[in-house]
Amino acid sequence: MITKPTIDRIMEATDIVEVIGEFVQLKKRGANYVGLSPFANERTPSFTVSPAKGIFKDFSSGKGGSAVTFLMELEKFTYPEALKWLAKKYGIEVEETVEAFENKEEENHRESLMIVSGYAAKFFHESLLETDEGKSIGLSYFKERGFTNDTIKKFELGYSPDQWEAFTGQALKEGYQQQFLEESGLSVKRDNGSLYDRYRGRVMFPIHSFTGRVIAFGGRTLKNDKNVPKYVNSPESEIYHKSNVLYGLYFAKKAIREEDNCYLVEGYADVLSVHQAGIENVVASSGTSLTVEQIRLIGRFTKNITILYDGDAAGIKASLRGLDMILEEGLNVKVVLFPDGHDPDSYVRNFGTNGFKKHIADNKKDFILFKTDILLKEVGNDPIKKADVIREIVESVAKIPDSIKASVFIKECSYLLQIDERALLSELNKIRMAKAKKDSQQQTSRPAPLDEPHFFDEPEIKVEKDESNQEKEIIRLLLLYGNKVIDWDGIANTYIGPFMIAELSDVEFEYLPAKKFTEIYRKEVENGVLPDEQYFIHYPEKDIVDITVNLIATKYTLSENWYEMHKILVNDEQSNMKATILGAIFHLKKQKVGKILQGLRNELQKTNVEADQEILLNQYMQMKKVEKTISDYLGSVILK
Ligand code: GTP
Ligand code: MN
Repeated sequence: MITKPTIDRIMEATDIVEVIGEFVQLKKRGANYVGLSPFANERTPSFTVSPAKGIFKDFSSGKGGSAVTFLMELEKFTYPEALKWLAKKYGIEVEETVEAFENKEEENHRESLMIVSGYAAKFFHESLLETDEGKSIGLSYFKERGFTNDTIKKFELGYSPDQWEAFTGQALKEGYQQQFLEESGLSVKRDNGSLYDRYRGRVMFPIHSFTGRVIAFGGRTLKNDKNVPKYVNSPESEIYHKSNVLYGLYFAKKAIREEDNCYLVEGYADVLSVHQAGIENVVASSGTSLTVEQIRLIGRFTKNITILYDGDAAGIKASLRGLDMILEEGLNVKVVLFPDGHDPDSYVRNFGTNGFKKHIADNKKDFILFKTDILLKEVGNDPIKKADVIREIVESVAKIPDSIKASVFIKECSYLLQIDERALLSELNKIRMAKAKKDSQQQTSRPAPLDEPHFFDEPEIKVEKDESNQEKEIIRLLLLYGNKVIDWDGIANTYIGPFMIAELSDVEFEYLPAKKFTEIYRKEVENGVLPDEQYFIHYPEKDIVDITVNLIATKYTLSENWYEMHKILVNDEQSNMKATILGAIFHLKKQKVGKILQGLRNELQKTNVEADQEILLNQYMQMKKVEKTISDYLGSVILK
């Protein structure tokens, strides 16, 4: 875990305008900065940054938070990754502590594998550029393929010497452990226990994680021997899961976001050549067929995928089915074929950037129409085959979550297939009904998985709106006034935060973020700390940051209209702090009591046992008294 002092130093150094300014063009407006949302397509800027508070709020997508939150949202960093990015930017040394032993062990293990992979990348890169063998064999090969020095450096291309232990021997000599050399697949164990190099005599393509660390390699042979595999790739390891890695993503993600499109190619060489040609939004699935994880990875940056196929009909047909899952993920898929004998790499080298772009523009087809075309070619006059094709196409269309989009495809397919649109629609509805039925059965047999993003959204729907609003009001007051001092009716020199927390100790919060928030507040107060706005803006959990920023940003800070409108309101509530604070506390209490009363009434109606009735009635009367006290109190505080 990154230590608290390090986090503090990072927060102190971080200038949110500077950080966000690296990704969004910001213009000063009043005390704030505004720009176009990087999370939504918009023409008028609604993305606002407040340097004073160190927060941003995107009124289009609803996202908001600190510079750290911004990096997590935009770059899809984890919390520590975002902190490390900032630390690097501001030249701050990161101190980490050993956390739970087991966790640390696992972290260490992964870290060791990354370190050895990083070392290997450097070794191969240097042997490519600085050894005679590397230069005459590896480098001249890359040069012949047209890769520039910049590309070779950027992608850290390398060469593994054609010797049994050149790499392994050097790595062991420098203290890298046998275990990690073996697990990373860089070295292979002989029967007698000694290690030898896996990639002898191959040119090396390091594979980077999407945060830029080397996690695996692809090594290409330079021999023209059918018995030698063209590529040898790293085996699966704790840091490398083929199915959720895309070659080139680290270098492509910025362009993918900017272009709002991702080109998907098949090979390492394709990525390099296309990227080198200035088309940087390109990644490869590296020999495996595309997985759902890879699609979701792309989906974090854009909803548009353009697949660039080498022209091999059999291969294309085999992959069509796999592509349906891209539709299921709600992404838009376009397909471009390259002429026989060409792949994106050779095409861009032959016809240049403009020729390449023109080919794409002229040949780009929507996936469903592309699939219809290909399947139709095989049908001829066979009505049974045609029926199969129709079913298959409609099945693909049924995967599209957006029903308007689906109906547009139905229309176009009806033309291509020469079949009545209504027939296609009825087929589509049949498939949809069957799917809905299957889904609902699955839902009753097991609860829907509570995965991360939905988890905290849900309570808001379940808890009554009014109730969650009252709870949010408490949080808002804690944020705004928690560290101000009370001075009323004989209570003086007491901080509002601890006072409110003590007053609310008998209240059970139901809106989950509010519940968590008050628990955190209570804990800090018990530790003698008064957490302020900044504390919660920088809290390492998203739901806490969200509720904080929403409460302080939306109304009072960022949007200028709001500010104008509410300045009066804020002044108002400050002029009678007692009514504001006690009013909020007792309104919430009254509501909770009302809920308890309702519960008791329900139970009373259900039971016939006299003894039970008496107990319930007793509780009911007690609660009624509490309700009356609260009402009287509220009346006296608020209405005075
Ligand atoms: P070049 O021939 O150098 O242009 O390679 P390429 O990158 O264009 O590769 P190709 O189109 O032949 O294959 C696409 C991808 O499939 C490669 O980038 C590799 O990831 C993978 N691949 C190709 N051949 C092999 C192989 O023999 N073994 C394994 N494991 N993967 C391979
Ligand atoms: Mn190729």
